[in-house]
Amino acid sequence: MLNPSNVNFSEITPQIRELTQLCLDNSAIDPSLYTKYKVNRGLRDLNGKGVLTGLTEISEIKSSEVVDGETVPCEGKLYYRGIDIEEIVGGFIREKRFGFEEATYLLLFGDLPNKDQLDHFTQILANYRSLPTSFVRDIIMKAPSPDMMNTLARSVLTLYSYDTNANDISIPNVLRQCLQLIALFPLLSVYGYQAYSHYHDGKSLFIHNPLPELSTAENILRILRPDEKYTELEARILDLALVLHAEHGGGNNSTFTTHVVSSSGTDTYSVIAASLGSLKGPKHGGANIKVVQMFEDMKKNLSDWTDEDAVADYLKKLLHKQAFDKAGLIYGMGHAVYSLSDPRANIFKKFVKSLSEEKGLTDEFQLYSTVERLAPQIISEERKIYKGVSANIDFYSGFVYSMLNLPLELYTPIFAISRISGWSAHRIEELINAGKIIRPSYKNVAPRRDYIPIAER
Ligand SMILES: CC(C)(COP(=O)(O)OP(=O)(O)OC[C@H]1O[C@@H](n2cnc3c(N)ncnc32)[C@H](O)[C@@H]1OP(=O)(O)O)[C@@H](O)C(=O)NCCC(=O)NCCS
Repeated sequence: MLNPSNVNFSEITPQIRELTQLCLDNSAIDPSLYTKYKVNRGLRDLNGKGVLTGLTEISEIKSSEVVDGETVPCEGKLYYRGIDIEEIVGGFIREKRFGFEEATYLLLFGDLPNKDQLDHFTQILANYRSLPTSFVRDIIMKAPSPDMMNTLARSVLTLYSYDTNANDISIPNVLRQCLQLIALFPLLSVYGYQAYSHYHDGKSLFIHNPLPELSTAENILRILRPDEKYTELEARILDLALVLHAEHGGGNNSTFTTHVVSSSGTDTYSVIAASLGSLKGPKHGGANIKVVQMFEDMKKNLSDWTDEDAVADYLKKLLHKQAFDKAGLIYGMGHAVYSLSDPRANIFKKFVKSLSEEKGLTDEFQLYSTVERLAPQIISEERKIYKGVSANIDFYSGFVYSMLNLPLELYTPIFAISRISGWSAHRIEELINAGKIIRPSYKNVAPRRDYIPIAER
């Protein structure tokens, strides 16, 4: 028997390599079979459009319209509960309010709150923004992980043990659990980071308490920063980022995960841990980190940031897999659904400019603008583009987070702190309406064989 203390968990042993070869030899499916059996790979058709798998009233993404009977790409639009996100943002910014709590209320309950409803809702979240006694010491401080998404998922799963009614999936109980998670995500994420940076990087350990009168965005900055200080503009831009990331239809990978796992009838903690696992993936929530790293590499390679020819050369090198991570991608450009524009990127850009001025980073902002202008043309010269390519939300969110001095480790958790609102709304919608376990089909393409006794193999 193996002695666990002698096991190196990360080592790939020769035996594992040998078994891996068996997986590779016996699990590769002939790509032509996907066409033969008309499989919608990635649950999308050949043009990349998602297969219809459900109905929702929570949000709508518009990227094309019908003109003279023909479907053509249009400027991107995003609606939360039927209301244009640009109007929602314009509303709370004009009235100088924080917007994340209002957007969360809208997504969960289907209507904009009046002042009393919003105050009451904010109060509920503030009351829930406190972890069980000793949770930080007993759970978050133990075995800190280098990835805050795993820390967050572990904390969510552990909260199950602290909930005396954890398995009850009646709507009032699920709503109660979702509101608690929405309130707690900032604490679970930031404290997870503080523990990691203390034990791993030797930094001083700060566990600041949130304040009930502060918004979610203000509390994130307060509990993250050693001196608990932030400017109004910083908090408002982080709040805007939370509003813009809160929801994006039922088909995005983590929200679809919420639907799939909810449909099995399991508990809220298991569902949200699964959604976190999905969001962690670099094809989903992890792209903004890549944008920032790509720009760092670009800056190292450019002697003059204003030299557009040099910027264009670097972008071509990216596409030719000769620069940065050699993946052939210009990160922050393009989107699976949007074509001419991503409305979230457009909204963000206006505020990013002011923040870059406050931070003395206008040259950097100019470089981002130049890339945003040049990249679509360069991509379309090198790739076959059907629907158009433009800057997506990750293009500016990474830049914003770096200006806010947020550590890279928290970029994806910030997305989760926001998207838990959308997941919650979709979990409740699934439980109220669907009732059937989600169960698509897979066609077997392997031949049948006889079982051979072990002595004869
Ligand atoms: C998001 C993304 C995966 C969408 O891809 P898609 O649905 O295939 O989009 P399109 O149909 O417009 O792409 C058409 C072609 O242009 C390529 N393309 C699109 N965006 C690109 C980019 N930023 N860099 C390089 N090539 C790109 C696609 O790979 C595709 O080429 P292919 O047919 O050779 O595979 C893609 O744009 C991408 O990888 N972007 C960079 C990563 C990123 O920013 N992700 C965050 C998204 S919010």
